[in-house]
Amino acid sequence: MVSEKFVAALDQGTTSTRCMIFDVHGTMVAMAQREHHQHYPRPGWVEHDAAEIWSIVRQVVPMAFSDAGVEPGQVVAFGITNQRETTVVWDRITGRPVGRAIVWQDTRTTDLLAEIAGDIDPAEITARTGLPLTGYFSGPKLRWILDHDENIRARGERGELMFGTMDSWITWNLTGGINGGLHVTDVTNASRTMLMNLETLDWDPVLLQALRVPRSMLPEIRSTIGVVGHTVHPVPGVPIGAIIGDQQASLFGQTAFDAGEAKCTFGTGSFLLLNTGQDIVRSSHGLITTVAHRVGDEPAHYALEGSVAVAGGLVAWCRDSLGLIRTAAEIETLAATVPDNGGCYVVPAFSGLFAPHWNPSAQGVLVGLTAFVTKAHIARAVLEASAWQTRDVMEAMRADARLSARSLAVDGGMTTDNLLMQMLADVLDVPVVRPMMAETVALGAAYAAGLAVGYWPDRQALRRNWQRAAEWRPTIDPARREAEYAAWTAAVGLADAWGH
Ligand code: G3P
Repeated sequence: MVSEKFVAALDQGTTSTRCMIFDVHGTMVAMAQREHHQHYPRPGWVEHDAAEIWSIVRQVVPMAFSDAGVEPGQVVAFGITNQRETTVVWDRITGRPVGRAIVWQDTRTTDLLAEIAGDIDPAEITARTGLPLTGYFSGPKLRWILDHDENIRARGERGELMFGTMDSWITWNLTGGINGGLHVTDVTNASRTMLMNLETLDWDPVLLQALRVPRSMLPEIRSTIGVVGHTVHPVPGVPIGAIIGDQQASLFGQTAFDAGEAKCTFGTGSFLLLNTGQDIVRSSHGLITTVAHRVGDEPAHYALEGSVAVAGGLVAWCRDSLGLIRTAAEIETLAATVPDNGGCYVVPAFSGLFAPHWNPSAQGVLVGLTAFVTKAHIARAVLEASAWQTRDVMEAMRADARLSARSLAVDGGMTTDNLLMQMLADVLDVPVVRPMMAETVALGAAYAAGLAVGYWPDRQALRRNWQRAAEWRPTIDPARREAEYAAWTAAVGLADAWGH
């Protein structure tokens, strides 16, 4: 056993941080997980305490190693994966964050966007970054932090502060922090900042100037796959073989390595990514263009992405804020007690509307209420919202890439909900396929790190690990599907209009 080797993945997500240990078959042999606090100081604001997250990393890594019964010397590499866009600024000397991290879901920058549009044509931003001008990405969040505290801006300009997304914050701490920690990120995470040029894969001076970001605050951009350094804490001497944003990690974990392959992950939000290979495909239907991964000095691979801000987050809201259910799993049980939504629709525009609408001012709506509607109908509408939002991005994907998917590979926590998976097959009108290992974010980070150090010889070896666990086929009457889609589209129109 002592001679057996493993790969570790550290998945720093929106609600929790997990460390998982994988063997050569891609089987998870141990997992340790801790949630962190969500701070909602004002409507639309969402914050995390980066120091709390680092202290959780320090707990879960040794727990997973000890649960697996492995010594650090048996772990050939770490893969770091993370919630993307969430913005942290910290002090280079003390190592302390200057304030709470602004989370990707946070909409505080909505008013600032008009100011930014006065400094640079939004079309120019999209041409350089593949992203629409919206507060989802890190650049506006960082500018907000610098604009709202003169002292922070002055210190940032003097080179005393560092910016990073969660991958940078964690990697800097893992590699020594104030004692020589590496200030790095990777191309997938950097492609979410609105500061990186998609073609040069470097920080873009025009964008830095428009968003008023001092260059000295930014991490160095590295490739996704390739050893960046070695850990110092909380276990010493393990190579960090990969850094990869969580949605790109799940594309990799689904072994969707080739152009034309796609996946959709259902977590807090839901994210449909289509691998476009080495081609930078520009969307004209509300999708974003992002980096899928880059191996060493090879050309980068890109993806088209349909980002949906709220999927599982709506179920969590029903549990935590409404008290409609006690556990997330109960949403399925409750929804299954009725045959349909009773005429009601929920559009969870808690962070405005993301793809393909991109309206930061939109707000959520619950429509179609009559005295007939029960909490079971609402539970059903809650699940359907995730399915319809996926249909919206799938339509955009079809229009942009002229691709009609023959099936959709899914993963993430919500895919254990069989009713939702059936709804998804029904509304998309394609079979929905879930692999045995539905935790593909961590798996993808482990695969990427393992490839970097030669733990797996090539991608073919990884493809052999992929096994189908379940498949759902469309059963709904097509006329009913399209009538429901029309009603959903009308409800989205109401959410879109509400914030104006
Ligand atoms: O872009 C945000 C995304 O990376 C968050 O993913 O899985 O933490 O909801 P998740």
